[in-house]
Amino acid sequence: MSEDAKKIVAVVGAAVVALGLAVVVGAWLMQGHTVHKMTYREATKQAYPDPTVFATVVGKSTPGLDLDKMFKATPAVLAHGKQLFAACTACHGANGKGDGPAAVALKPPPRNFTSPKGWTRGYNLADIFVTITEGVKGTGMGAFGTLSPEDRFALAHYIESLGKFDHHDHAAAEIASLDARYHLSEGVHAPNKVAVPTVMKHEEAEYAAPRPVEMPPASDTSVGATLCRRLVADPVRAAEVLSELPDWRDDLDVFARAAMADTPRNGFRAAVATLNGAQWKAFHDELVAVTPRPGHDEAGAGRH
Ligand code: HEC
Repeated sequence: MSEDAKKIVAVVGAAVVALGLAVVVGAWLMQGHTVHKMTYREATKQAYPDPTVFATVVGKSTPGLDLDKMFKATPAVLAHGKQLFAACTACHGANGKGDGPAAVALKPPPRNFTSPKGWTRGYNLADIFVTITEGVKGTGMGAFGTLSPEDRFALAHYIESLGKFDHHDHAAAEIASLDARYHLSEGVHAPNKVAVPTVMKHEEAEYAAPRPVEMPPASDTSVGATLCRRLVADPVRAAEVLSELPDWRDDLDVFARAAMADTPRNGFRAAVATLNGAQWKAFHDELVAVTPRPGHDEAGAGRH
């Protein structure tokens, strides 16, 4: 190796060591700051928006909307949007970065409004309006169509203002497509307007706390039952952790990873790390049998 090459190797090596140190020290420093991983329920409770943000109102007939006007972001509209956004921060975070306290519990995670990356429906004003109105099926993003169109436009403008990138708006085309979809300019009998905290309560109910793992009785001396009694430290917490992983019943790896991560705060004892393959399988089969499925009351009874 030439002298130059050696120098390069030395410099690169030092850089790699420094980076490694930084990562280790960083992780160590961060440890003190990791917050207890919250469930959706805890997080929404903690971040619950002020219930006075908007009241529930019985719908009345409204004249057609002036959509050209709705497409303009005035300071008043943005201020109103910002106020309404309090109902979204539990998931999307105070600055819209997708890092609210409930975000950890959500797969897919909430959208980061400050970046143009990864939007499902799209980030122009009309797309955002449609998302707010209809939600995104199969994700934590619910529909807020009970808000008045004005409120939805205010939210959409505020969300655009959080992302300092080009949202590729073409007002005329977007107005036409929104109007074709919702007939906003025609004038409608407004639906009843339900306060967002009420909407949130419905959403919260969907995430109702799972029922605890039902510990097998001492009389059940099968390998699985014995492992279950020995390794489940907290049946409530274990059920909560598993309920956040839709695949855990079908995928032993997913289950094993969840059981080993963060013991004992995840409800499992650290001794899970010592299980062999056959024991994992017995433990998994047993837990599948004794963990009630959400929405299926009888599932816990399906014991083998
Ligand atoms: C319960 C958590 C939760 C709450 C509350 C919530 N969102 Fe979302 N939101 C999500 C998730 C999760 C996604 C990502 C969906 C996806 O991946 O397509 C999302 C995505 C979005 C998107 C982007 C959709 C896209 O095209 O990618 C918009 C816009 C949005 N939310 C607006 C709002 C607004 C406005 C509110 C408040 C009125 C709100 N959200 C409240 C969870 C939430």
